Amino acid sequence: MVASARTEPRGSMAMELTIGDPTLMARLERGMDASEERLRALAAEARDPYVAEVAGHLFGRGGKRLRPLLALVGAEFGERRPERRPAAADPSAAGASATGTGATDPSATDLSATDAPAAVDAAALAELVHVASLFHDDVMDQGLTRRGVPSVNARWGNTTAVLAGNWLLSKAAQLAAELGPETIRLQSKVTNRLIMGQIRELVGPSDDDDPLSHYFTVVAGKTAALIAMALQLGAVRTGAPDRVVQALAEYGEHLGIAFQISDDILDVTSTSEVSGKEQGKDLAIGVASLPVLLALADERPEAGELRTLLTAATAATEGTGLPKAVALLHRCGALAEARTVLHARLLRARTALNGLPDGPATQVLHALCDFVARRDH
Ligand code: IPE
Ligand code: MG
Ligand code: MG
Repeated sequence: MVASARTEPRGSMAMELTIGDPTLMARLERGMDASEERLRALAAEARDPYVAEVAGHLFGRGGKRLRPLLALVGAEFGERRPERRPAAADPSAAGASATGTGATDPSATDLSATDAPAAVDAAALAELVHVASLFHDDVMDQGLTRRGVPSVNARWGNTTAVLAGNWLLSKAAQLAAELGPETIRLQSKVTNRLIMGQIRELVGPSDDDDPLSHYFTVVAGKTAALIAMALQLGAVRTGAPDRVVQALAEYGEHLGIAFQISDDILDVTSTSEVSGKEQGKDLAIGVASLPVLLALADERPEAGELRTLLTAATAATEGTGLPKAVALLHRCGALAEARTVLHARLLRARTALNGLPDGPATQVLHALCDFVARRDH
């Protein structure tokens, strides 16, 4: 990401992608702005000023906005037939197809897919679930800074952060209910997978579990599920064919895992000015990130020293603890190995793209792989 002052919003990921279709990029940027507006309006629906302020704390703070971007890109694969919102007073709406094939919103027909309300709703829904998970994650990780500002837990405390995260999830459920049964199915499934991933991370592997397979189960739930679902939702809501939705979901699962690995690497290597989060947080609180798991995996000579550094309560963040742990992760080859695993995942993501029609939207998905590959150092 581009470095910026702590209180300024960081640029969206769309601005950093290198693709050759300016019309598409402009459409995606417009869709992102519209989804941000939608999010602000949803937070304001709280009416209670305290809930509205806390729930809206991270909206408009920049961030990469990867999930809304993916929902909008997914919508590029549809046939511009957004699912009609079932109006309570319209009995014919009850029979509307969940994939939008039976009902066309006439107000959207002369718009390109990503300008259509269906795409913007999908983008807002994905970001709602994501921000809720960040509120909860910062409680779990005792994270103090998020998107360059104090986290919700740092500012209002853990109880408020958990309840406000739940409030956001309830808004996501309400929005999904407005949008139809297929959206509810995707939204409820992803919420379940995400929370299960977070719980599994919290509990850690059992004695019988291989720590690395446990890690991949955790990241598939806590990160990849929503990344895949954002793409699926955009595609489903604009009437994309099933095989396209499947290919997007497969791509998203691999991209999501690669993205989380790059996040794990950046926890070690990136400064807070660049990431908007504290450096070395995983190391400091003992989160099993991939570089650490690899360093400890096969009893390398450095493993004992790393274990001591990580178990000394604040050693990794105070004094020379963090630079020591970072140097050690470099020296023992664990960071390089994590990068190899990341690049293998990106290859699998790119392979899934073979199932999609060639075109600018597929190019964006390739460019996202390039972005994640560049992000790892
Ligand atoms: C992943 O967890 C984020 C969620 C799915 C909520 P991390 O703990 O690795 O994320 P960061 O580094 O705090 O953003
Ligand atoms: Mg975490
Ligand atoms: Mg965290």
